[in-house]
Amino acid sequence: MALKKFKQAQPPDSTNLKTLATAAAGCTGCDLYKNATQTVFGKGKKKARILLVGEQPGDKEDLAGLPFVGPAGELLRHCIEQAGLTMEDIYLTNAVKHFKWRPAGKVRLHQKPSMGQIKACRPWLEKEVESVKPKVIVALGATAATSVLQRVPRIGSERGKAIKDVELADYIILSWHPSAILRSIDREDAEAKRADLVSDLKLAKKLLSK
Ligand code: URA
Repeated sequence: MALKKFKQAQPPDSTNLKTLATAAAGCTGCDLYKNATQTVFGKGKKKARILLVGEQPGDKEDLAGLPFVGPAGELLRHCIEQAGLTMEDIYLTNAVKHFKWRPAGKVRLHQKPSMGQIKACRPWLEKEVESVKPKVIVALGATAATSVLQRVPRIGSERGKAIKDVELADYIILSWHPSAILRSIDREDAEAKRADLVSDLKLAKKLLSK
């Protein structure tokens, strides 16, 4: 099947996060706005030194209009705390700003965004980065890393390292997505991935003083 192409989102010429969020609320750049409740724009400290990028809002985030308020967010907040960081250090966002799902009975089942949808949404991420100006970006999972690096990543072998600037920030770090930890095959795997995520967030903290 041919890859569906979308026109890229066209953010306004502003770095004001409120202006951007308002504009993103009306985004029809790709098709995901059709089935989502609302655009979920990033949230957090305006001039945070660390910007965390997830994949896309989940069911809870889609309803609340806020990133990382569901189970993955809860796990992420614990890891942030364990790494010695606070939410004051952080701006949270997603590579894709609408929830992609398919119905399964009464449940809305998460679907991975396509490359076309990731690309269409990237201008919003670029604008958030331009506004927040973080020193370190932590990409959580493959979708976030694909958007940040603009190539397909290998999280298994690339995570946990300080990747010197691509274009967006001084350092990029790839890590596990908290949902991948929640979906781990067993407890041992979950604990190892969680320890990795905490260690990657500690690395982000350490890089702030470089
Ligand atoms: N997963 C994400 O990637 N982002 C959210 O905001 C919630 C769950």
